[in-house]
Amino acid sequence: TKSMKGFPEHFLWGGATAANQIEGAYNVDGKGLSSADMVAFVPKEQRTGGHAIEITSEQIENILAGKVDARFPKRHGIDFYHRYKEDIALFAEMGFKVFRISINWARIFPNGDDAEPNEAGLQFYENVLDELHKYGIEPLVTLAHYETPLGLTQKYNGWAGREVIGCFAKYAETVFRRYKDKVKYWLTFNEINMMPISPFTGGGVVIDRAENKLQTIYQALHHQFVASALATKLCHEIIPNAKIGCMLARLETYPYSCNPKDILKAQHENQMNLFYTDVHARGEYPKYMDRFFEENHIVLHKEQGDDELLKQYTVDYISFSYYMSITVSDEPEHESAEGNLFGGVKNPYLKTSDWGWQIDPIGLRVTLNTMYDRYQKPLFIVENGLGAYDKVEEDGSIQDTYRIDYLRQHIVQMKEAIRDGVDLMGYTSWGPIDLISMSTSEMSKRYGFIYVDQDDDGNGTLQRSRKASFEWYKKVIATNGEEL
Ligand code: BG6
Repeated sequence: TKSMKGFPEHFLWGGATAANQIEGAYNVDGKGLSSADMVAFVPKEQRTGGHAIEITSEQIENILAGKVDARFPKRHGIDFYHRYKEDIALFAEMGFKVFRISINWARIFPNGDDAEPNEAGLQFYENVLDELHKYGIEPLVTLAHYETPLGLTQKYNGWAGREVIGCFAKYAETVFRRYKDKVKYWLTFNEINMMPISPFTGGGVVIDRAENKLQTIYQALHHQFVASALATKLCHEIIPNAKIGCMLARLETYPYSCNPKDILKAQHENQMNLFYTDVHARGEYPKYMDRFFEENHIVLHKEQGDDELLKQYTVDYISFSYYMSITVSDEPEHESAEGNLFGGVKNPYLKTSDWGWQIDPIGLRVTLNTMYDRYQKPLFIVENGLGAYDKVEEDGSIQDTYRIDYLRQHIVQMKEAIRDGVDLMGYTSWGPIDLISMSTSEMSKRYGFIYVDQDDDGNGTLQRSRKASFEWYKKVIATNGEEL
């Protein structure tokens, strides 16, 4: 009914992207290579289960020597680099209040540790930001979205090296100073919990160069936590009215049954997921990690001042991606949820996407409540959406009603969570324009309101067109979530 509380007046509706999945122009205007540029397309038949992208030192050398006969879709993206004006005009037409981009670090510091920033790279983002402001769209900028400069991998094994903290702080300071009048909302590391799943994706870490895999992963993470706190400090000093947050791939985990063993397992999994936001928001490692570190023979090397930094510079808000929930069981024989990115067992109550991700709108409400109870900091959903195959009809239209259904159901649950008392700043659905998939490098896994004419082989005109969901989302924004 009308009297029920709806979305707050200045709710930030919009969409989210990452540089390496849209820009292309991977070697243009002085840009250096980043980890994403090394990811080759693997045809479906050749995928070996899971979605973790791994790469060896030898593969990197072979790629650089031109010995690998493969396509690298993230190098080409959807050519946003040259088409950003047209694309932003379409976002503006939908009424976007906010647009999430990432800055590709290797555009600013081509090797990651150069003495001077690359002016052409700085200028490109300045142009994008100006274009957004032209339409009153607020930028939300991620500093690190799976784009570690390859030079840092070669020199320090990426974030495994403590030196990278300093390189990142310099990069962060450079962009804070340059864009201080243009960007109010910042994020440090996209899905910081990617590191244990894919250290190369999460931090440019090549695992065959590590003596002890888990030790290296958690040490690299520690460096990211410290770097995030440092960036928070710098951001507040340079841009006093800015807000800077963290970003987690939130994996709300359910017990398969009321068997206490299942409950315990789910609780553990939730802790292992919330550990990251615990550090970012509470400013210290949670106690339950001591046991995990001990049992896995992990000894973190901390330097003097690290703990103080983490404590002093906690995040202003907490952002996360939400695509699915996870269900775990203590009994291994339960059918596995085929293709669910983060594993677990099949939840009999949920349907799955074409890629096997278990669709769970109510889980979003559960998660919003869990996170708000735990931190009492504003939340921001910075990714959510349905990757699906789209069909272009004879008349050129795309009737993506499945996507509308997915988004509608999630937005309904957001509204419920707001009524539950959750402080939610905004919602940026993932890939408002079709882009290259992070996990599979496919083009055919589409999330957009805007269709891009390009196939998995990179063929197509790159022409943009509006899907049915385009008009729908426009109405959602215009009515501030009242008409769904
Ligand atoms: C998140 C990432 O994990 O999920 C994005 O932050 C990614 O970069 C998105 O694109 C969807 O995953 P995928 O594999 O379908 O592209």
